[in-house]
Amino acid sequence: MSSTMRVLVTGDRGYVGAVLAPLLQEAGHEVVGLDTGWYDGCDFGPYRPEYEQRTGDIRDATAESLHGFDAIVHLAAISNDPIGHLNPETTYSVNAFGAAHLAEAARTAGVGRFLFSSSCSLYGAAGDEAVTEESATNPVTPYGESKILAEQLIGKLADESFSPAYLRNATAYGASPRLRTDIVVNNLCASAANAGEVRLASDGTPWRPLVHVEDISRAFLAVLEAGRDTIHDQAFNIGRDEDVMQVRTVAQAVAARYDAPVTLAAGAGSDARDYRVSFAKATRELPAFRPVWTVPIGIDEMAEQIDAYGVDEDRFTRLRQIQCHTDAGRLDDLLRWR
Ligand SMILES: NC(=O)c1ccc[n+]([C@@H]2O[C@H](COP(=O)([O-])OP(=O)(O)OC[C@H]3O[C@@H](n4cnc5c(N)ncnc54)[C@H](O)[C@@H]3O)[C@@H](O)[C@H]2O)c1
Repeated sequence: MSSTMRVLVTGDRGYVGAVLAPLLQEAGHEVVGLDTGWYDGCDFGPYRPEYEQRTGDIRDATAESLHGFDAIVHLAAISNDPIGHLNPETTYSVNAFGAAHLAEAARTAGVGRFLFSSSCSLYGAAGDEAVTEESATNPVTPYGESKILAEQLIGKLADESFSPAYLRNATAYGASPRLRTDIVVNNLCASAANAGEVRLASDGTPWRPLVHVEDISRAFLAVLEAGRDTIHDQAFNIGRDEDVMQVRTVAQAVAARYDAPVTLAAGAGSDARDYRVSFAKATRELPAFRPVWTVPIGIDEMAEQIDAYGVDEDRFTRLRQIQCHTDAGRLDDLLRWR
């Protein structure tokens, strides 16, 4: 690939996108964003993007609108399990069929590289062994299923001039100008800061792979710039071995940082999502990607930024924001602006 690329980042106004887009710019790439803007205004600290931001739905993308891009980083999605459960059909329409539609339009437009933001949650209930990219998938939610279907549909388009790659990201943590507090580390920090207790939503026993949002962004940069043979139609687990931990271990670390007790939220039960993941392939194949954050440092970062900006959990919970839009009649059942 040429050293400077013109890159379309979908979902650039979300949690990962707000960190990733500037990181690509710093690396010298030209960035254009495409986003429906569902979370516009839900800012955590200053958010001043300096690139062209298009407002639109990936489900409506046309080949004409994608001409001239070297690569697409496709982040736009219904990004978590609770929204996925709300309406699985809508989750499939965006996360799987919408992603495949965008990839097809990209291939028609001559875009050479398509980086899909997949998820380790497609491994679902995985048992005690660390799963690799070759392991069986066992999703326990429509969200996890939608990511598998998307990989399969996009994979069918791979050919000598169109190279998709699938970054199966661990659960993210850390500060972003478009913060989410519905993901475990950030959620526990917000609970400690606001309620004075680290409130667990499950019994804390499940294993989870975690990764800092900035390290996810570095992984996309590494795949963007890697040789075609390395990434063509390949899946990569993105995270680091030190950050595969039980939820209760995270809770104890947050509790220590805030000097707050760990408590169980009302109705806290077991959680079927339980998986340990191997990151050996990304370590081996992507030497340009080396994660730099760890969960304890990320907890410190969150605590400092929450001190500086405050954290309104409703504002940073994706499901609540979507429900706000649907209750007010701004979004329809398929999550399209009316
Ligand atoms: N955050 C995580 O822990 C995590 C972990 C693994 C994978 N991922 C994946 O990474 C991607 C980004 O996650 P995130 O945490 O930034 O999510 P997010 O919800 O914060 O951001 C998603 C963005 O996509 C936009 N969007 C949604 N549907 C769209 C559509 N149809 N057309 C155009 N824009 C649309 C939203 O407005 C939002 O700005 C998602 O694909 C998610 O599934 C995230």
